[in-house]
Amino acid sequence: MLQLNNVSYRKSKSDLVNSVSASVHAGDRLTIFGPNGAGKSTLMRLMAGIIEPTGGTITSNDLLKAKNAIGYVPQQLALFNNLTVKEHLRFYRKMAGNNTENFINEMIETLQLKNFWNKQIDELSGGMKRKVNLTVGMIQQPEIVFLDEPFVGVDLAAKHDMLNWLNQLNKRGVTIVFVTHDWQVIHQLADKMWLMESGNLLQETTVDEVVHNRLELPNTSTALHKMISFHRS
Ligand SMILES: Nc1ncnc2c1ncn2[C@@H]1O[C@H](COP(=O)(O)OP(=O)(O)OP(=O)(O)O)[C@@H](O)[C@H]1O
Ligand SMILES: [Mg+2]
Repeated sequence: MLQLNNVSYRKSKSDLVNSVSASVHAGDRLTIFGPNGAGKSTLMRLMAGIIEPTGGTITSNDLLKAKNAIGYVPQQLALFNNLTVKEHLRFYRKMAGNNTENFINEMIETLQLKNFWNKQIDELSGGMKRKVNLTVGMIQQPEIVFLDEPFVGVDLAAKHDMLNWLNQLNKRGVTIVFVTHDWQVIHQLADKMWLMESGNLLQETTVDEVVHNRLELPNTSTALHKMISFHRS
């Protein structure tokens, strides 16, 4: 579905992403895991088409050439402080294609946005903002969605709503690619795992392999070792 061939991104004389080759398949539940500064957000932006690789290529099959096929939920909130939730939805809805009304209404319902429908963004809690950020990033009913730390500061009830929504979509065939530092989320939303460090994709593995101690990491990846042993302890 999405094929990365030696994808690199170089900026200010450093390699943020270094010759990554891998594939994302239709229906995948994939997490990109690694320490701060590993290049996860940069790789997500490359795959979502927000930025262009400085080396290598990213190709997709015909399915993804459909208009608006890619959703992107950024790590930094992409919201207007002085607009209400309702106004956000009204604004972004116009940009979504036709026939997405049912999808949007279902998303509003599942994420329980009506609970703070008429509040301005600057009146919302951190977790509520994350829900709106998620909604806006998926407004066009994507076939694949890239979610960059969508659960930061989200309480367990909101996390439940968001996981429920994303898992429902995945069951209908939507491909989910996400970054998180939250093991609970990884367990509930991922099967596949890409381990990244210093701009390199060190290993393609599975959550199952990591959980059952079947993963051999290169000796260089000290931070990753710590992050994985955290989960095991
Ligand atoms: N616009 C930019 N210009 C130059 N360097 C950048 C830019 N954005 C990020 N970087 C650098 O690229 C590296 C990777 O950053 P990136 O944001 O992709 O990491 P990350 O894995 O998402 O980290 P985190 O877990 O902290 O979100 C870091 O060293 C960062 O300082
Ligand atoms: Mg990041």
